[in-house]
Amino acid sequence: MPRYPDRVQIVEVGPRDGLQNETLPVPTPVKIEFIRRLVSAGLKQIEVTSFVHPKFVPQLADAVEVIAALPEGDGVCYSSLVPNEKGLDRAIESGVKRVAVFTAASDTFTQKNIRMTVDESLDVFAPVVSRAIDAGLTVRGYVSTCFVCPYEGDVDKTRVGTVTKRLLAMGVDQVAISDTTGAAVPTDIFETVGHLLDGTPAEKLALHLHDTYGTALANVLVGLELGISTFDASAGGLGGCPFAPGASGNLATEDLVYMLDRMGIETGVEVAELVNAADVVAGALGRALPSRNWQRLRGSCGDAAGSV
Ligand code: HMG
Ligand code: MG
Repeated sequence: MPRYPDRVQIVEVGPRDGLQNETLPVPTPVKIEFIRRLVSAGLKQIEVTSFVHPKFVPQLADAVEVIAALPEGDGVCYSSLVPNEKGLDRAIESGVKRVAVFTAASDTFTQKNIRMTVDESLDVFAPVVSRAIDAGLTVRGYVSTCFVCPYEGDVDKTRVGTVTKRLLAMGVDQVAISDTTGAAVPTDIFETVGHLLDGTPAEKLALHLHDTYGTALANVLVGLELGISTFDASAGGLGGCPFAPGASGNLATEDLVYMLDRMGIETGVEVAELVNAADVVAGALGRALPSRNWQRLRGSCGDAAGSV
């Protein structure tokens, strides 16, 4: 039997990644109730919104209102994406204590996503990260398109390594190695994450997996075997990037927790409570959610979708 970690940290990205691609506006109080239930489910790290330009991601235009209404959570760390100094100014003003900068391993995606090349984005982030740290915030980094770029195809692992090292050198405390398109398979994780681990401690890395082709849990297993113990996921399995055509939702948090529970790996998170949290979003969107466990408990046509 491979040696797995005893405990895994889950970074819940449902309120940010899960909602950012939804065109139907989700009212702020619904988002707050979603977050409140995520806290009740036991999640300790929740990415709640983005300080990006509202023109590009209208769903998250209420970032300030969301941060202002966050429920008090015992030991819960809330975070938000910031793409530049303007985003950081807004984040600091809102009072959020953790931010995440985000770039990628391929230029075409980065241009479409944040209108900069990868190198330009790293130049923009260096002062953002140092100012955030000086202001008492902690900072995470994302590297998108670590395996497949929706515009350029296969991505070289050495490129992922270079971008990851530059983010860590700036002072981010963790880099989320992201499968934006959800196209990665276990051998990709083994190759790329294995390459990164040659020189970078496993606790500095997280895996952020989308589940377009149904390979996300298999990819988690390889991550665990490599010693990764932080995984991003989204309650209900919602998610997607407006600038990554063809990509679908994140790995569903309840599907991840089910597997880890059964493997005897502690998460501190309850599957039934996660499904209860996802119900809020199903109700607001008026449709069933893609997660296996949401469908197992609620019925595949979403009996709960109208009942919230
Ligand atoms: P830009 O147009 O190049 O920005 O957008 P600019 O610096 O040229 O400024 C133009 C105007 O925007 C100015 O206003 C700025 O003040 C304003 P004006 O003077 O014309 O009135 N502006 C802003 N306003 C509010 N908040 C800001 C901000 N910045 C500038 N932060 C920008 C560049 C990055 C802002 C834009 O391209 C953007 O917002 N993009 C959205 C990107 C995004 O949210 N993508 C989805 C998240 S990433 C993701 O999902 C991947 C991930 O999940 C991992 C994975 O799965 O791979 C993390
Ligand atoms: Mg994502």
